[in-house]
Amino acid sequence: MNYNELVCKCKKVTYEDIDHVVKNEDDISDVIKVFEDVQKQTQCSTGCGGCHDKIMDFIADILYQR
Ligand code: FES
Repeated sequence: MNYNELVCKCKKVTYEDIDHVVKNEDDISDVIKVFEDVQKQTQCSTGCGGCHDKIMDFIADILYQR
């Protein structure tokens, strides 16, 4: 995966932007809450919503690796 790729085209958010937020989360027990923090901090998935599933999958992958 190319971390510089835009995962959210509406808000111009890359995988790297999301990775950065997730890695700074203290509480990762609730994936929905992590997603909401990512959304708040990057504005991703606040436009058409078409990127939602891709972002959820990406966050889940990062959390499973921790
Ligand atoms: S691509 Fe992310 S909100 Fe449209």
